[in-house]
Amino acid sequence: MKISFTEPDLPRAGAVVVGVWEGKVLTPAARRLDEAAGGVITRALSAPSRFGGKKDELLPIVGPPNLSASRIVLAGLGKPDSPDARSLQRLGGNLVAHLNGAGEEEATLMIDVAEEAPIGRTEAAAEIAFGAQLRSYRFDKYKTKQKPEQKPSLARLTVATSGASAAKRAYQPLEKTAAAVFLTRDLVSEPANVIYPETLAAEAERLGALGVEVEILDERKMQELGMNALLAVGQGSARPPRVVVMQWHGAKGSGNGERTQPLAFVGKGVTFDTGGISIKPAAGMGDMKWDMAGSAVVIGLMRLLAARKAALNAVGLVGLVENMPSGTAQRPGDIVTSMSGQTIEVLNTDAEGRLVLADALWYCQDRFKPRLIIDLATLTGAVIVALGHHRAGLFSNNDELADRLIEAGKTVGEQVWRLPLAESYDREIDSDAADVKNIGGGRAAGSIVGAQFLQRFVNDVPWAHLDIAGMAWSTKDAPTVPKGATAFGVRLLDRLVSQYYEKE
Ligand code: BES
Ligand code: MN
Ligand code: ZN
Repeated sequence: MKISFTEPDLPRAGAVVVGVWEGKVLTPAARRLDEAAGGVITRALSAPSRFGGKKDELLPIVGPPNLSASRIVLAGLGKPDSPDARSLQRLGGNLVAHLNGAGEEEATLMIDVAEEAPIGRTEAAAEIAFGAQLRSYRFDKYKTKQKPEQKPSLARLTVATSGASAAKRAYQPLEKTAAAVFLTRDLVSEPANVIYPETLAAEAERLGALGVEVEILDERKMQELGMNALLAVGQGSARPPRVVVMQWHGAKGSGNGERTQPLAFVGKGVTFDTGGISIKPAAGMGDMKWDMAGSAVVIGLMRLLAARKAALNAVGLVGLVENMPSGTAQRPGDIVTSMSGQTIEVLNTDAEGRLVLADALWYCQDRFKPRLIIDLATLTGAVIVALGHHRAGLFSNNDELADRLIEAGKTVGEQVWRLPLAESYDREIDSDAADVKNIGGGRAAGSIVGAQFLQRFVNDVPWAHLDIAGMAWSTKDAPTVPKGATAFGVRLLDRLVSQYYEKE
């Protein structure tokens, strides 16, 4: 789908979309169109319908015979003072879905925002385009037999606004964000026979073209470093594990101050999780191709920071392994010595993400002395029990960092909910045979216990863990996220960075 910006004019072909405020009040563009079209909008609005101009409401009406537009779509904007970036993104997304459903090939959007809205005209146009772009994502490269009516019809979307060139400029960073989101969605959507540690590392390596310094650690290097917890997870697979380190050097100035200390992002990259010898049931196991979503978010985020030349230093670090049962796989009861020196009793080989992260987190803090670390992982089924598919679990040893993540999440619509960490939970992973065991006593508080395990591998560095098991993949379409891989976390962390760590 091609998006462009033009000065307002009467639309030539396709659908034309105009805004209506709550209470069926026409926006200026709607009024002008109504006049040009002999009052069809006023008439449609006086007929009985559920459309009242509230947010997220759409009403298609037939195209008037005296205009070349095929149809008019009325878009509810809510109260004049209410449209904000998120609601306008949703509007753009909803429109794309609606127009594709109708088989429309092109559309012109003429959405006014009122003086009293918290967003200006230029930004509003860009945010609508952004939402439209985010919703237009498809992963259909393996569908070879799609009929035309199964493919999206909408090829061209034109946002008409006065000051089109300013709107186009405002859209540029958002377009970069969408490109990063799409990269993450692509990586998460690919099956595990295509994306496995070596191929995922190769994808990360491509960020070199944007100025990211990329290093790939192979098994020998990991052995040298003592990453035996991570290696143990991978030892049952024919596909060798990898760790990828991505560095973005964007901080202005130099020295050893806080300003040049990097922010670190660590991702779980289990390219397929069978559970290992503690094997998972067959039903739904295919979902475990997206057990590398945390790593894909880190890769997408690093791409975005580099693409928009973010003014900070950042490290992205991903632990890539395939968790398979085989004659070489680790066994329940095995004890491994992690890079930190702590010994881990592996009582369940399906609690593998924390083993990967144990070494990844330790290595990250040890080598980079980061200002803070945020890890993302599809770590536990239990977080889905707790929060469903509405919020990611947030765990942190630092209130300021936790509050900032919550705030950034609300702004971009990728919400997180904080759950506790405490000494009493930590006791559940004391092992009789080793320093720590990789599961707790029962099923209770499974996500917290997982987070407690990770915390044993970070020292005093401000750290947050995002359990995205319920958020990485969606079975339902949402306004700006078609069903499938969501890339949850890319926009959240980009916002966190831009709001709190660049303008110092
Ligand atoms: N990758 C899974 C968690 C998961 C489950 C992600 C469902 C997405 C959807 C993780 O490796 C796992 O298997 N966790 C176990 C932990 C348990 C053995 C302590 C779980 O949640 O059952
Ligand atoms: Mn598992
Ligand atoms: Zn897993």
